[in-house]
Amino acid sequence: MTKKKVGVIVGSLRSGAYTRMLSRALPELAPELQFSTIEIGDLPHYNQDLETDSPPSSWTRFRQQVIASDAILFITPEYNRSMPGVLKNALDVGSRPWGKSAWAGKPAAVISMSPGALGGMAANHHLRQVLLAVNLAAMAHPEAYLPAVAGLFDENGALQNADTRKFMGEFLQTFDAWIGKVVSAV
Ligand code: FNR
Repeated sequence: MTKKKVGVIVGSLRSGAYTRMLSRALPELAPELQFSTIEIGDLPHYNQDLETDSPPSSWTRFRQQVIASDAILFITPEYNRSMPGVLKNALDVGSRPWGKSAWAGKPAAVISMSPGALGGMAANHHLRQVLLAVNLAAMAHPEAYLPAVAGLFDENGALQNADTRKFMGEFLQTFDAWIGKVVSAV
């Protein structure tokens, strides 16, 4: 059976990001899905003046990768009780030009992470609010707020915490089923 293609969008640009570490663990946690990361760090700030017949090439590349994905998985840190600006910019870029949103109708899921105790809950919910606006069908449950993430990975950045591995595996199984439900409903 063909694996469902999941585009993974990581909300942090820094090289040592915990969110990026988790994205690297996805294929072993859910081998039944096919993951590919969609980069957002090179997207110019959204400016409608650039929305011409030849928009920035990275915008076009990004939109095409979203369209080619069966579903989108967001892994976000929390910046000042919201998502990082670079992630909001990517959501805006994907939503335009008007009437041609790359997101429309796709299944999605959100994982938030933080070294702190709250697991990026505020970022998770701000992000979900925007997913509604761009017509991404976000899975409601299970919710994934990963706290104290500095202790989850080994010195090579591999996800070592057994409870988190189990939880993420179950989360991704449910996401797999959610993708099937949303795709068959449209
Ligand atoms: C943070 N951090 C943070 N953490 C949190 O739990 N709630 C918050 O509101 C914030 N705010 C915040 C703002 C800014 C500008 C920065 C740079 C950081 C800390 C953040 O969770 C921490 O740096 C994570 O390690 C970032 O995620 P990555 O880069 O490891 O994926």
